[in-house]
Amino acid sequence: MAYDVTRRPDDMARITTKALADRFIEEQVQAVRAQVGDKKVLLALSGGVDSSVVAALLIKAIGKQLVCVHVNHGLMRKDESENVVRVFGEELDANLIYVDATDRFLDLLAGVSDPERKRKIIGKEFIEVFADEARKQEDISFLAQGTIYPDILESIKQAEGKKAIKSHHNVGGLPEDLQFELVEPVKLLFKDEVRVVGEALGLPHAMVYRQPFPGPGLGVRCLGAITRDRLHALREADAILRDEFDKNGLAEKVWQYFVVVPDIKSVGVKDESRYEGWPAIIRAVNTTDAMSATVEEIPYAVLHKVVARITAEVEGINRVLYDLTPKPVGTIEWE
Ligand code: XMP
Repeated sequence: MAYDVTRRPDDMARITTKALADRFIEEQVQAVRAQVGDKKVLLALSGGVDSSVVAALLIKAIGKQLVCVHVNHGLMRKDESENVVRVFGEELDANLIYVDATDRFLDLLAGVSDPERKRKIIGKEFIEVFADEARKQEDISFLAQGTIYPDILESIKQAEGKKAIKSHHNVGGLPEDLQFELVEPVKLLFKDEVRVVGEALGLPHAMVYRQPFPGPGLGVRCLGAITRDRLHALREADAILRDEFDKNGLAEKVWQYFVVVPDIKSVGVKDESRYEGWPAIIRAVNTTDAMSATVEEIPYAVLHKVVARITAEVEGINRVLYDLTPKPVGTIEWE
């Protein structure tokens, strides 16, 4: 997608403290008010760090003139959509439209096993669901986006002809009848700065320090053709992993950690009977730029606890594996 590729001025100070963040927020509040006047702004609020910080900033600047749309594609992690509704709909009293599009997505994905086709379906459907909601709104003039500076750098790189390994998606590419002027208040910031700004805006720590989560969500972690029962098992197993990482102080030491469930079954035994189930694969990696990644050493005690809990609590999982492959050669996601 084409961003406005404004370059960050060389002398722009890095936002590292609350005081600097407060100043940035004040400047952006004024800039956004000047840009949008009394018009309405639409935002796809995924619950990720960038769109959440943009939402909080715009709520501060223009209150109910901001219309947030949260599309639950049914591929969110456990409790994620509920948290978006609680924080933005209730605590920040935002103008929030919540769309549960689970059936739309899962019906389209039924039987589709190719990862890039899955990504394309999810990306395209996401835009369609969002566009449907946008068309129901009247007088929207602007589209806010959580574009950050690495996105701009990436788009410059792509313009220079470097090849992307996987197709990532966001809400770019809206249909012709929905062309809005963009509002991108954090587009010159790096991720660490966005987080400082998010905390200064009063967003919950867990939301601001949330690990990266791909646009296609659990869709690229429920390997092959997605089924509802395996997706459910994946979501529950992933929630257990996250819970144990939180409890054991690993959440902020490991950049990205998650569970993958492939479409294979192995034989196990439970209650003295044959028990066929899927394996849950744990991935926990550190990286600075996601181009390469190293595997974290997780204490065996934590791994054993995760294995015990997943196999006891999650219906359909009978083994747990730990992926020790760095990137390269394995990408971070399995698909
Ligand atoms: P890979 O798997 O390419 O992942 O090593 C690098 C980083 O990108 C994330 N990722 C995605 N993010 N849409 C996204 O928004 C996608 O389709 C997608 N695929 C991978 C991945 O989670 C990791 O942080």
